[in-house]
Amino acid sequence: MVVRPVLQLCDPRLRQPSAAVAPDALGTAQLAALIDDLRDTMAARAGAGLAAPQIAVSLRVVIFGITSNPRYPDAPPIPETVLINPEWTPVGTDTTEALEGCLSVPGMRVPVLRASRVHLSALSACGQRIDKEVEGFEARIVQHECDHLNGVLLPDRVVSA
Ligand code: NI
Repeated sequence: MVVRPVLQLCDPRLRQPSAAVAPDALGTAQLAALIDDLRDTMAARAGAGLAAPQIAVSLRVVIFGITSNPRYPDAPPIPETVLINPEWTPVGTDTTEALEGCLSVPGMRVPVLRASRVHLSALSACGQRIDKEVEGFEARIVQHECDHLNGVLLPDRVVSA
């Protein structure tokens, strides 16, 4: 079990857009090791999701999932999901505002407006195509973690009162 430090808000590495995972990296031991580190670090910090740049790896890899989580006591369970090179587009025009937190911005819960439903397209760790619609809290997590891959952080998304 390897719990890596989570970079914090002012770290410039969080602001760099991450690179796409190359096709020949899919299914490799190196990618599996990165995913293990993401999983262990997310679990140790009770996160609902974590993106590779948060542990100083500038690659488009994210993990998320919720069983019972003390940081999100009211959240529905979401099975563990690993996304490689994820992209999303809104489905319809509905948006939802809700409080969001981030392991890179500890102690901060801010209102963020997100698309309520999105079409998600990505690869699995083995390179299988993932193509599906997600909604609600899962759609919010996908948008939040994809933001990390583009160097966008929670304070950039705060809905002003
Ligand atoms: Ni975050």
